[in-house]
Order: sequence, then structure tokens, then C-alpha cells
Amino acid sequence: MTSSLLRPAVLRVAGHPWFRRLATQTTPGRAVALRFVAGETLEEATAVARDLDRRRVTAMLDHLGENVETPAQADAAREDHLAALAAIARAPSLDCAISIKLTQLGLDTSIGECLTRVWSILDAAAESGTLVMIDMESHPYVDGTLEVLHRAHERYPKTGICLQAYLKRTVDDIFTLPKGVRVRLVKGAYLEPPDLVYTAKDEVNKRWAELFVTLLARGHQIDAATHDPVLVEGVRRRVDGLEAGWSRVEFQMLYGVRRDLQAQLARQGYPIRVYVPYGTEWYPYLTRRLAERPANMWFFFSNLVRRG
Ligand code: FDA
Repeated sequence: MTSSLLRPAVLRVAGHPWFRRLATQTTPGRAVALRFVAGETLEEATAVARDLDRRRVTAMLDHLGENVETPAQADAAREDHLAALAAIARAPSLDCAISIKLTQLGLDTSIGECLTRVWSILDAAAESGTLVMIDMESHPYVDGTLEVLHRAHERYPKTGICLQAYLKRTVDDIFTLPKGVRVRLVKGAYLEPPDLVYTAKDEVNKRWAELFVTLLARGHQIDAATHDPVLVEGVRRRVDGLEAGWSRVEFQMLYGVRRDLQAQLARQGYPIRVYVPYGTEWYPYLTRRLAERPANMWFFFSNLVRRG
């Protein structure tokens, strides 16, 4: 069975409370999480950013959390992002961005409430000139996320957005983006209804490559966010052939995934940034990483058995 067929199954299993308990309340479960998460504190995340910097890799901090249930939780998330921005401001030689999830900032309640929190984050980011990227979550949030992007981009143009190649609507969404806005292009990580997404791996890869070319032609700043060696090579060849191409494109990868490829690109002098997730709310993030590579589930269960 191919990984694209197994992915929904893994996400369903990971949605069960018993699996969540195994992952979050056992030592082996937490050990697997640490492969993908920098730690539970901001200090651990900034230590990872400094370590990456020594290896010529830039960073993007992501304070984990999503779908908060109360305004107090959303306010707390805003404070966590502000703390990250303050830490970045104290280290001006470090090239470090932040990434935010809007359902962590109250998008489930209303766009207005979410925007109020986003404004505080953007105002703080503007003081230190820090790049702020907006993650893309599951399909019910795409319209709201694009709306917030438009408003945010007017206030602080150094705000970018993530777009998902598996989503059929993305090819149209591209034409509604603010001119030149920074776009992180990914394949897409959520369990979605099959009629809204391309499900075959080859199809998603083809869409990703086509969207990359369209974004490039339309003058966007692009983050080529993939670990897929074929897509990475395609981007490399195309952008190498463009004058000043690398001033508009950078590679992005996830902490703990394809470290060899990250190091290779950095050694070759290509711009590469690593997404550094941290915080206590790591479970939903972990489930998406397990689903991307079913072998990770095997790693998870073999750890459980080995460590008793
Ligand atoms: P693919 O899944 O085909 O993997 C290619 C190869 O990479 C695999 O063969 C394997 O070697 C390696 N690999 C990939 N994932 C792995 C894993 N979990 N463990 C071990 N090896 C792995 N998605 C989203 O919906 N919204 C978002 O906001 C973001 N944000 C984001 C930021 C950044 C910087 C990155 C790199 C990715 C995201 N994603 C995301 C996740 C994205 O949608 C996608 O699920 C993953 O990047 C995996 O897809 P690949 O393009 O790497 O290809």
C-alpha cells in the first residue's frame, strides 16, 4: 500500500484518545515527539535556532497550538508569540522568523477577535523587522486565513502565507493574493474530504511543481517547503537559471526531517530555513508528521515495545 493511501488511516488512528494517551503519557511516545519538536520551551527553540545558524541554516519558530477553546487560551498564545518576537529582537544577528496558526489565536470564534491578536503580533514583529508567516490549516479555515492575510499584509507587508498544493482550490486562490506576497508552498498535511483534494501522490507533486512556476511568474517571494528530493532538484535547476532567482526563493524544511538534505543544501550555499516547532501542545503536530511517513508509525510502535 502506498503512503498516500495509508496517510488518512494513520490520521484516523492518531485521532483516537487511546493513541493520544500512548503518545503523550509514555516515555517512548514523548521520545518520538522529540524527533520532530525542538522542546517544550522557548529557550529550547532558540537554542535550536542558534545551532542551525552555526550551520548556515535560518529558522522559523512555531509555538505549537491550534483550535483553542477559550479567549484566555488565545490570549496566552498571543503572549507566547510576543515572547518569541522579543527573544528574536534580542538576537539581531540571528535570521529567525515566526509562524502562526490562526485557530490558535481565536479564528474559531471570529475573524475580528483573531485579527485583534494578530495586530499585536504584527506590531511587535514590525519593531524588529521579523518575518511573520501564517500557516494554512484544514479546508474550513482557508477563506478566513486568506481574509486575515489580506488585512495583515496591508498593515505589515512582511507577512506571508502558506498554500497547499493538494487543495484543488489553490490554483484559483493564487490569483486573489496580494501582489508579491510571500508564499510558502507545501503539499498539505490534513485529513480532507477526497472531493476537495488531490489524493494521488503523483498528482499532488505535479500540482506543486505547476503552482511553483505560476507563483514565480507572478512575482511572489516563494518558500519551497518540501523534503521531496525530486521537487527540490526541480526548484534548484529552475532557480539556478534565473538571474537573482535566489533572492526570491528559499528552501524550507521541518525540524527533524531530512537533516541530510538540509545540510547538503546549506553546504552548497542555497538559502534554507528550518521550521522549529516548540511548546507543550505538540500532539496534533506529531500526528501529521507520523502520517506523512507511515514508517514513523513503525518507529513509534517499535520504540514502545523496546522500552516496555
Ligand atoms: P513527501 O511527504 O512526499 O516526503 C518526501 C520525503 O521527505 C519522504 O520520502 C521522506 O523521506 C521525507 N519526509 C517527509 N515527511 C516526513 C516525516 N514526517 N518524517 C520523516 N520523513 C519525512 N502543511 C500544511 O498543511 N500547512 C502548513 O502550514 C504547513 N507548513 C509547513 C512548513 C514547512 C516549512 C514544511 C516543510 C512543511 C509544512 N507543511 C504544512 C507540511 C506539508 O504539507 C507536508 O505534509 C510535509 O512537508 C511532507 O511533504 P513533503 O513535501 O516533504 O513530501
